Amino acid sequence: MDVFEAMETCRAIRYLRPDPVPDEMVEKLIWAATRAPSPGNSQGWEFVVVRDRALLARLAGTLGERMRAGTAALAEGLEPSQARILKGAVHLTESLAEVPLLVVVCARNIYPPQAPQEIFVWSCAYPAAQNLVLAARALGLGSTFATWQTLAEAEFREILGIPDDVTICATIPVGYPDRPFGPVARKPVAEVMHLDGW
Ligand SMILES: Cc1cc2nc3c(=O)[nH]c(=O)nc-3n(C[C@H](O)[C@H](O)[C@H](O)COP(=O)(O)O)c2cc1C
Repeated sequence: MDVFEAMETCRAIRYLRPDPVPDEMVEKLIWAATRAPSPGNSQGWEFVVVRDRALLARLAGTLGERMRAGTAALAEGLEPSQARILKGAVHLTESLAEVPLLVVVCARNIYPPQAPQEIFVWSCAYPAAQNLVLAARALGLGSTFATWQTLAEAEFREILGIPDDVTICATIPVGYPDRPFGPVARKPVAEVMHLDGW
């Protein structure tokens, strides 16, 4: 698939079919993630690929209650597009136990080597995460860039055995889509591009 078409149609897919994703595709996703740039080519990323149903159920269990409590307050007075996102996000959380795989994108604080700075943890992880999301789209897989682990970070660490010196940067559920891919809604270029200065 043409990379521009992948970008244009790579909207968050929060409704996933439970059908398994073949191993070769999983490897291809991590390959794509690890083709991303990183500061000084430090490549401080690591990926926990969770496919075990029991582990997914435990992760889902830690999120469910907190998500419901948090979203009840958020839902008040939302405009329709935001309400749709929230509804999808709640659905994704509630169906986490059934998704074929969850990729937990992690990174270490290792750059620059003499005096590592936290900003480089995130600037390493996010290009990799976006490469993974785009590669998933190109393979016909749906995914969503999610950060809900912040609701239950200690439990995620404990359940997946993630060491304390590793930052969990994003959690990306992946699977065959149960809703169509489609164009993303974004601001027009003219609204955000400044030529030769602000
Ligand atoms: C850093 C980041 C965090 C996000 N966290 C979540 C999340 O926790 N749950 C979720 O359902 N979507 C999450 N998203 C997805 C966004 O809501 C989504 O990309 C945005 O609404 C635009 O929608 P689209 O990608 O379908 O066009 C996140 C996206 C980014 C980039």
